[in-house]
Amino acid sequence: MTRDLILGVDIGGSGMKAALVDLDQGVMATKRHRIKTPRPAMPGAMADVFGQLKDHFDYSGPIGCTFPGVIQNASVVKTAANLDASWVGVDAAELFGSKDSPVTLMNDGDAAGLAEMEHGIGNGVDGTVVMITIGTGLGTAVFTDGKLVRNTEFGHIEINGLDAETRASSRVIDDFGLSFEQWAPRMQVYLETMEQLLWPNLFILGGGISKQFEEWSPLIDISTPMVAASGRNGAGIVGAAMAAAANVP
Ligand code: BGC
Repeated sequence: MTRDLILGVDIGGSGMKAALVDLDQGVMATKRHRIKTPRPAMPGAMADVFGQLKDHFDYSGPIGCTFPGVIQNASVVKTAANLDASWVGVDAAELFGSKDSPVTLMNDGDAAGLAEMEHGIGNGVDGTVVMITIGTGLGTAVFTDGKLVRNTEFGHIEINGLDAETRASSRVIDDFGLSFEQWAPRMQVYLETMEQLLWPNLFILGGGISKQFEEWSPLIDISTPMVAASGRNGAGIVGAAMAAAANVP
């Protein structure tokens, strides 16, 4: 195995996914391997799954890993809205990593944004770019002239007294059986609010639901240009691997 392939792991509220990433091309070089996120989603059980993902690729070397919460110093978990609360304060780089396979952690929205700005649809776009990953939660990554402002948590802005992600994430589609016609007005309100707060030049929409972007985007009417993430659902894995490569001394 050449060192140009780095293992990227994407931790989500429902699945933990991994693939080897070709850093030159900024794409997954293998099929994604997915294992269900254990419930309750506690650090020990998830560390076991992390080990299984690593074993699946028979991999040793630097690993990049996304986390669905705020991550400080590429290692310490500060929030875990959709996982078990016992994650808060855990040094995930220490828990998942080893001498041969050091792990670099990054917020999942930030990782997806990095990949899109470097290798995807955001490449070369100046001004303010806001990437929103729509999944179990709502992740955000904010870039100004290509530079990431880490750990923005705009998925939790309060709209009409409610945490935005409890209204507009794709989990509500599954939990309440909403059609795109029923869900899109919620995303409309969310994007309008983000527009008024950040005045972006571009919205990039990612997460699993971005695969069906053509179906629901016509139901949304905002003034900011809005595009689907080009990495579709793989951007998190690619961005995580990029972060790991940047962290290797
Ligand atoms: C978390 C974010 C995360 C997003 C997407 C939110 O609940 O607070 O940190 O990026 O979900 O997983």
